[in-house]
Amino acid sequence: MTKKLPVNLEMTISQAIEDVISTHHRYLQDELPKLQDLLDEVVLTYSLDDENLKIYSQMFEVYRETLCEHAIKEEKDLFPLCIELEENGTIPSVCRGSLVDPMDVMEGEHEAFDLLYQKMQEYLERFSTEVKEDEVLGEFIKRFALLQEDMLIHKMKEENIIFPKVTILESALASPAVFPAY
Ligand SMILES: [Fe+2]
Ligand SMILES: [Fe+2]
Repeated sequence: MTKKLPVNLEMTISQAIEDVISTHHRYLQDELPKLQDLLDEVVLTYSLDDENLKIYSQMFEVYRETLCEHAIKEEKDLFPLCIELEENGTIPSVCRGSLVDPMDVMEGEHEAFDLLYQKMQEYLERFSTEVKEDEVLGEFIKRFALLQEDMLIHKMKEENIIFPKVTILESALASPAVFPAY
């Protein structure tokens, strides 16, 4: 059964963006450092002599840093242009006059996060079969799984609501209705 998308489809672009930032970006900002602390504790316990843990921990750092950068790019670059488009009907002069390319880049990054996460899981599974019943590792795995669930909803809101609404609005502004000449 697919998860119900907890969002009001009637939201404006600005409202949907505000929802994504306040619900999902702030959550990432709070949760990623906590996950890093838990993983650091696991590394302290088992040391980086374990090859699977070493690779996993390097990959987690890349995941955490690039995800933070991704959210900052959306908040500082893309989202303000989407809001401007909706509020002022201004098609941005940057990005060759369209937000399609930067939105495609963001979607590509979403896909890259999924692939990286799947790859990371392989190393984590290999490592976690070596250690049994570790409370900190268990807490890390549980919290990271919750973060992944949130990422699914987060991505759906951007890819299925915000980006399509921006594309529709851009097209409407680019080809205004033609009125008959009198
Ligand atoms: Fe986002
Ligand atoms: Fe995103």
